[in-house]
Amino acid sequence: MSVRKIKDGVYAVGVNHWDRKLFDEIIPLPNGTSYNSYLIIGSEHTALIDTVDPALTDEFLRNLQEFKDLRIDYVISEHAEQDHSGSIPKVLEVFKDAKVVTNEKCKELLMEHLLIPEDKFIVVKDYEKLSLGNKTLQFILTPWVHWPETMSTYLEEDKILFTCDFFGSHYATSELYAENSEIVLEGAKRYYAEIMMPFRNFIKSNINKISKFDFEIIAPSHGPMWNDPKFIVNAYSDWISDKVSNTVLILYTSMHGSTKAAVEVLYNALVEKGIKVVPFNLVSADIGEIAIFLVDAATVIFAFPTVLTGPHPLGANITYFANAIRPKVKYAAVITSYGWGGMTVKWVKDHIGNLKAELLDEIEIKGLPKDKDIERLKALADKIEDVHKKLGIL
Ligand code: FEO
Repeated sequence: MSVRKIKDGVYAVGVNHWDRKLFDEIIPLPNGTSYNSYLIIGSEHTALIDTVDPALTDEFLRNLQEFKDLRIDYVISEHAEQDHSGSIPKVLEVFKDAKVVTNEKCKELLMEHLLIPEDKFIVVKDYEKLSLGNKTLQFILTPWVHWPETMSTYLEEDKILFTCDFFGSHYATSELYAENSEIVLEGAKRYYAEIMMPFRNFIKSNINKISKFDFEIIAPSHGPMWNDPKFIVNAYSDWISDKVSNTVLILYTSMHGSTKAAVEVLYNALVEKGIKVVPFNLVSADIGEIAIFLVDAATVIFAFPTVLTGPHPLGANITYFANAIRPKVKYAAVITSYGWGGMTVKWVKDHIGNLKAELLDEIEIKGLPKDKDIERLKALADKIEDVHKKLGIL
């Protein structure tokens, strides 16, 4: 990605990672991602906001070399995670007089993770300002979007809010702005689901905090910028709200067809009732897509066979993941088929404590579903219909 001008003295200097396939070695990236960095050249000082993943440091430094006689006084580090901070040591090598400006918590993490010496830091407090001459930066602590040290930076004169992971999207593009594109929004939802959703309760206070600032552009550190900030702020407000959709997510896999037969009974019964059902076969499912549906599905069904005495490993994996990202799902159920016995239901129940979901049923089926099992699966569909009606979503 070459350098793009945003405003006079404000440039996008980050890089696209078009061909990155996985984030955190778990979330598929159908559209790649980007690590954004912004250069702000004031009349007296120059600041660089965040850097890029170490995998692309060279390309990033080439972007900076496009500025003749560039001097960087401040490297603003909004977040210590390495996809944004990992190139700071190299930047400090090249720009020897630069200081890292960040908050106390972020300083500690950067010293631990990147071995940056303490004398390289300038520590700022919440709402503290830094003058670059004709441009002024103000730092706003926004913890837990994504780590405890994350902060945003407000560029007063140009009304730009730099938010790092907050409002970011997994979307590599040559365009500067998202232009309210639905496909970028999906990239933002994929990002939110894995990275932000576990901290849903903190996001509300951070939205309130940034809302006091008069910004016209949100410039995150992943994906394009939002030139209609309301679009992404409203989407976030919706995702973090208690509202759920009339959706049942079925996370299943099947070894010999028994669990699949049970899933089909439930699927058909729910569809007949006008409930949206989204089944994912865990063998081939995109875990990021599952996470997107977990953002607001009302009900989730864990359905997989018992292997030896416990859940099929693909089932254990998705249960662990769903529990870790803390979706606001209201109801759950477990379905398992088994050969001779096992503890799958207990295992799942023991591993979904974060979900705060009411367990509607736990159905254990020996082999293929028989009439009594089919009745129970249909009864589960009836219960789901009832609770969705009570929620006012059906
Ligand atoms: Fe994009 Fe939490 O790093």
